[in-house]
Amino acid sequence: MRTRLDHLVTSALQQGSAVPAFTCYDFTTALAVVGAAEESGLGAILLVAPKTAATPNGLRLISALRGLADAASVPVAVQLDHAMDLNVMADAVAAGADSVLADGSSLPYEDNIALVVSARALLGPDVVLEAELGDLAGDEDRAFGADKSGASVAGLTDSAQVEDFVARTGAQLLAVAVGNVHGKYKGDPQLRWDVLQDIAVRTHIPLVLHGASGIPAEELVKAAAMNVGKVNFNTELRTGVLATLQKQLPGHRADGENLQALLGHWTRTAKDFAAGTLATLTR
Ligand code: 13P
Repeated sequence: MRTRLDHLVTSALQQGSAVPAFTCYDFTTALAVVGAAEESGLGAILLVAPKTAATPNGLRLISALRGLADAASVPVAVQLDHAMDLNVMADAVAAGADSVLADGSSLPYEDNIALVVSARALLGPDVVLEAELGDLAGDEDRAFGADKSGASVAGLTDSAQVEDFVARTGAQLLAVAVGNVHGKYKGDPQLRWDVLQDIAVRTHIPLVLHGASGIPAEELVKAAAMNVGKVNFNTELRTGVLATLQKQLPGHRADGENLQALLGHWTRTAKDFAAGTLATLTR
């Protein structure tokens, strides 16, 4: 059943856990994620990256994911991730996304606020808005280039800005930069628990941790106790599927194999990852 993203996150937090959100570039991965959620009886979030949503076929993917969410036996939400372009936000919502991350985190503070306020004015009151404060290193769609230890990352969320930012943007969820990065971590990620704690006491809206790939499960559980209700995964899911396909492809003769066998491997890898994540977040 398609569910408002903020309701899904709030009810998970009440149970002491966070909801995993998975970037889906395709319908096969989304089917696997929803299948894992249904088997575990837990909710999940399907993310669409902004570069995907900026294409006509990306908008069709969003419509398909909305249909998948509608038909699911567990709560599922569809979100446009990391959008800076108001036209892409409007198109994604028209196609079926019911939540948007209006991401002005790379902009000066006042411009970040202005982007979220403009998104609200454009999208109306029913679209759930996430905003981001603090600048996350790394690339949303690729694992290389983000090869940094979380501790050394500049652009941590300035907790002194949190109350003003949340009040002026009206954001319903707040993505934070507390040593998390998109892509791969060099060494162990070193989350700044002091900064996260300081943010958590300054706002009651649920917090979001991007770059969850590579962060140990127990740390994600610890973060959930500090009001982090949504944790975003892309790299681990994407690289897991790619590694499976790389391994399987040499054994598949183009003239002798059916595509379903390969899709089966793809689905199993994505489903195992989603199921493992759902289980660890709720244990
Ligand atoms: P990772 O690629 O590091 O898992 O981050 C994904 C993400 O934050 C999507 O918004």
